[in-house]
Amino acid sequence: MHINRRMFLGGTSMTLAALAAGCADSTTSPDSPSASGTTSSAPLGPLAFDADKYTEKTVTVATDTGQKEVKYRFYGPLTYVTKPVNADYQSLVISVPTSIDGQAVDASRAPIVFANAVGGYLPASVKDATGVGEASMGMGAMPGGQTPPSGAPPSSGEVASGGNAMLDAMGKMVNLAQLAVAAGYVAVEPGCRGRTLVNDAGTYYGTAPAAIVDLKAAVRYLRANAGHIPGNTDRIISTGTSAGGALSALLGASGDSPLYHKYLDDIGAAEASDAIFASGDWCPITDLGHADGAYEWNWGTNPTQTGAVDQALSQELRGLFVDYQRSLKLNGLNEFGPLTAENYADYLLKTYLQPSATRYLTALSDTDRATYLRDNPTIRWKSGAATFSWQDFLTHVGNRKKSLPAFDAFDLSTGENNLFGTGTTKARHFTDYSAAHSTSGANRLDADIADLLVLMNPMHFIAERNPQRAKHWWIRLGAKDSDTSLTVSSNLAASLAGLGDDVNHLMYWDEGHGANTDAADFLGWVKKISG
Ligand code: DHB
Repeated sequence: MHINRRMFLGGTSMTLAALAAGCADSTTSPDSPSASGTTSSAPLGPLAFDADKYTEKTVTVATDTGQKEVKYRFYGPLTYVTKPVNADYQSLVISVPTSIDGQAVDASRAPIVFANAVGGYLPASVKDATGVGEASMGMGAMPGGQTPPSGAPPSSGEVASGGNAMLDAMGKMVNLAQLAVAAGYVAVEPGCRGRTLVNDAGTYYGTAPAAIVDLKAAVRYLRANAGHIPGNTDRIISTGTSAGGALSALLGASGDSPLYHKYLDDIGAAEASDAIFASGDWCPITDLGHADGAYEWNWGTNPTQTGAVDQALSQELRGLFVDYQRSLKLNGLNEFGPLTAENYADYLLKTYLQPSATRYLTALSDTDRATYLRDNPTIRWKSGAATFSWQDFLTHVGNRKKSLPAFDAFDLSTGENNLFGTGTTKARHFTDYSAAHSTSGANRLDADIADLLVLMNPMHFIAERNPQRAKHWWIRLGAKDSDTSLTVSSNLAASLAGLGDDVNHLMYWDEGHGANTDAADFLGWVKKISG
């Protein structure tokens, strides 16, 4: 398949009409109140949702306002496609609160928090989930007795961890699916394929674009069952962190794009829209084709734990970012004007970093603030505002997490190299630069890589002004997160704001990869945007 602009722009409305026609025999009414417990017609055959088939569960959730006891209906695991490659991953669970602290709640039209548990572009599974927030990310069960891959980036989340979890300020896990039901929302947790899955023939079946195709199929399943499934399918709010944040952003940006139709047909996805209402993206590891240059622009002079990276190569990669940033033609938020590699450090300082440090220091007691400022003399505090230079900020962060290049390694050793694997080839290059420097013999990109990069990049769909994209965006990033360049989420925010979307983006001061220190604010935002 060759992906071009015309396909993308031409397809949308006609395709939707066709999709609607395909659903015409359905007895569902998207506007009916749904989930009364008596609707069990089967308009979708094998993909029909049975509202009567649930177990009753109770969970105690620690929220910002204390512990909440939530009684809920737990559905699933439900396979969301008719031709799964591996149903262990292509299944979802749904949790619907019925009472919170003894107070009955009616979630039949509540917003749906669609919380993916992906980390490291690894598979995610709800196969063994017996309650809300138990999706597992990581290797999962692998056919053919495959062992975990080696050489993935240290931070790729290869270590399995429970649920839709992110780290809060205390380094504890924040479980958004559980917090969602405790706030009265429906939580949907989708599993999906990931890069490490291999079948008995040695074929990698979870590499790009499998994960995003599966998440779209899961959304289509919900929408095709509108009126039967609990929750408002016009208010699907996706969430994810890191690779999961990248996929959440991509799900938001690429709504109803025909570029995925072939893949969705292959797995027997429901005939319905896969557009979502809003996208919550924590530290999204995205824009992979440009991430190496951006990384060197941001962290190029910071040493790794074992010393400085090759500064000549770093400068070359940085040069690629300069060109890329110019090509984006973005304007910064808050009337900043054209955003270029030359003024980007100033932009980050003014828009995100100094306000973030200011919020952090303002919240401290006078004693704690004085201690912090004594320990961090490069951060100046005057009239209730923190200021510092870009160089001081870089020094404050310290070691960069990744070596050079950060994503497309010359020796094909990163998780992203595996993400772009195909067939029985575990890992491939996806940038011209690294292909040209390859130590693995592959000096040229395979012909399909360009299309795969598009299918994995929200920036493509934003640049195309996809009318079916989500219009509400929550983007968060730890200011000390050197898993990717700080420009990645900032460019995402600036490009969306440039289209007029509602963008809420800030950075968490002194937080690293995976932080989520304002989950309650997020859930309040969900309420606000959902009306
Ligand atoms: C993740 C982290 C990375 O550094 C990366 O390159 C890809 C994914 C993650 O935590 O999901």
